[in-house]
Amino acid sequence: MSDIITVIAPVNIAVIKYWGKRDEDLILPLNDSVSATLDTSIMCAKTSVCARADFKEDAIWLNGKKESFDSPRLQNCLGEIKLRAAAEKSVSEDFLQRKVHVCSENNFPTAAGLASSAAGYACLVTALAKLYKVKSDVSSIARLGSGSACRSVYGGFVRWHAGINPNGTDSVATQIVDSTHWPEMHALILVVGDTKKKTSSTVGMRIATQTSELLKHRVKYCVPERTEEIIQAIRQKDFPKFAEITMKDSNQFHAVALDSYPPCVYMTDVSHFIVDLIHKYNTASGSVKVAYTFDAGPNACLYLLKDEVPKVISLIKHVFPTSKPESFITGLSSGEEVLSPALM
Ligand code: DP6
Repeated sequence: MSDIITVIAPVNIAVIKYWGKRDEDLILPLNDSVSATLDTSIMCAKTSVCARADFKEDAIWLNGKKESFDSPRLQNCLGEIKLRAAAEKSVSEDFLQRKVHVCSENNFPTAAGLASSAAGYACLVTALAKLYKVKSDVSSIARLGSGSACRSVYGGFVRWHAGINPNGTDSVATQIVDSTHWPEMHALILVVGDTKKKTSSTVGMRIATQTSELLKHRVKYCVPERTEEIIQAIRQKDFPKFAEITMKDSNQFHAVALDSYPPCVYMTDVSHFIVDLIHKYNTASGSVKVAYTFDAGPNACLYLLKDEVPKVISLIKHVFPTSKPESFITGLSSGEEVLSPALM
């Protein structure tokens, strides 16, 4: 007999990007990053976990397909949860010995290809923490699954502190403000392409760390100042400042990707067209009304205030009349949610 724990966890989209690790095994970043956690109604991961004495092996199903549990990232997350549970004496020795089954799926179209690993690992770790009754901060465990996942553990705006300890104990996420602080803030996701990225984030940032001079400059001279400035803009709800930093940081991240050797190209002609369109829209509006940001792929995430949403959606429909790119609009999320602890 064992509880099934089911949790949903949101996607987060960075406005100060994480790109580059100082430790690949512990997933310790070169720089702090900042993100907004998006509402789960449109995009989230859902994970159920269960540990039973009659399970023969640890097993995982992703979007209905059985996958290997051998991945070091999965093993590290489960191992760390069990270590914490043992230290906190939160479950019995017998429970710790049981094998665990995991079922995970994304509710957003896989075409979006957006931040699925962040939501997925945040969800897995939150579900496991509930199963093993771990009470301490789990963002550093989610980080072991995928760096950006540590930010999805909290809602609203979140900062991932790079930390300085070699063992990563201070590389954790903290909430800057919760989702009620800036309720007018919205995100509009424009799905530009659904092809799998040529170079994964993990590999792309490894190449950048090894070869990009611009990345060194970014980490030392740009990110620290930008991080403080954007946090202040968020606290003061200064949209033009927030938007300017968001766009500059996205541009610099893609410049770093290009400065890598061999270069990584994530944005497409359509992505660049959207960048131009937003700058023209802001110029015509007389002030900065919309910000774009692009992760390691062609899809745009626009940040904008609620009043602007209908105008921008009609603009997108006008410019892309064949309804491509597909778009999703959402607000910010208050954080992880537990769905249905059921008794087997
Ligand atoms: C461009 O967190 O997916 O989205 O830690 O290697 O799993 P790993 O990388 P991942 O990288 C995300 C990179 C990014 C920027 C960001 O979310 O900050």
